[in-house]
Amino acid sequence: MIGRTVHKIFAWCMTGVVSVFVYPVFFLISFALMVINNWLLKEKKSIEGEVAVVTGSAGGLGKNIAAELASKGCNVAICDINYKLAEGTAKEIADKYSVKANAYKVDVTKYEEVVDLKEKLTREIGPATILVNNAGLLIHSDQLNPTVEEIELMVKVNYMSHFWTNRVFLEDMKKANKGHIVAISSVAGLVTLPYSEPYCSSKNAVRALMRVLRAELKLEGLNIDATTVFPSFLQTHARVKQFATDSGFSDLYPLLEGEDVAKRIVQGMLQREAEVAVPGFFMLTYRLISLLPARAQDWVTYMPMMRLNTFQRAFASIKEQ
Ligand SMILES: NC(=O)c1ccc[n+]([C@@H]2O[C@H](COP(=O)([O-])OP(=O)(O)OC[C@H]3O[C@@H](n4cnc5c(N)ncnc54)[C@H](O)[C@@H]3O)[C@@H](O)[C@H]2O)c1
Repeated sequence: MIGRTVHKIFAWCMTGVVSVFVYPVFFLISFALMVINNWLLKEKKSIEGEVAVVTGSAGGLGKNIAAELASKGCNVAICDINYKLAEGTAKEIADKYSVKANAYKVDVTKYEEVVDLKEKLTREIGPATILVNNAGLLIHSDQLNPTVEEIELMVKVNYMSHFWTNRVFLEDMKKANKGHIVAISSVAGLVTLPYSEPYCSSKNAVRALMRVLRAELKLEGLNIDATTVFPSFLQTHARVKQFATDSGFSDLYPLLEGEDVAKRIVQGMLQREAEVAVPGFFMLTYRLISLLPARAQDWVTYMPMMRLNTFQRAFASIKEQ
């Protein structure tokens, strides 16, 4: 009994010593490394001639990312459940950037379809060394009262699908000891957005998944990077745009252009950044909020929304007819 108590006191003391003496040194070193990496060093790696798979790239942010990668000389696979739209996007990108851009129909929630996708695109445009997990569902038909099926599908598309795509595409990257996996999370993966449990929790889970992946890649000594992206509200999605406007979010910070976010994502990839928030200060805000006790964090997160007093109404107004 006494032994267990001493053990516990020792653990608490060690935590105190680490917090007071080791953490500040660690903080300064990692901050200096971040400044050197993000601001002093120029673009680090070239991706010209590589094959990039972008899920959900028929339109929206995915299309912008595929176009930005093509502008750097990548051949791109436009993968989407909406094949008709993907075809037009692929043609547009191929014409504009003179790279190979093929359209592929895939439902990323289905493992077998992802396996077939890899076989097909490897045959047609070569083995992929870049995977951008962008496909996502943002809003339910009735955000305040989603159906069981809608919740299940959102979690599958936004989170589960990353297991399938990563598993399938990592295999060749590991063999080539070269690659980059990018996951599009959201600021809703960092902070809380009330009445969005499936979206927030799936985007939060993506962050954890990517952190584990990065640790494994480092432990295995592989030359494969993993970047998680946390964008704020974009102009790209009509219903999200309406919600952001109605709730007053767009007054707090202007809605982002898809092209700007795509540029920042590719820049982050080239600089091998682990996490990219757009705008960048959201990450600092998140880190500062994280230092507070849990109840204070809750308060900070929901109070501004309560004060706006339009939150529920904004979600109710975008209910699909
Ligand atoms: N729009 C925003 O404000 C915003 C903010 C932060 C993060 N994000 C994230 O960015 C990503 C893209 O968002 P967007 O605004 O461009 O959305 P979007 O709806 O315009 O695009 C999503 C694409 O994914 C495709 N898709 C959906 N389910 C699929 C499936 N099962 N298999 C394959 N493709 C599928 C859709 O057909 C669509 O083309 C999402 O992951 C989203 O969560 C968006």
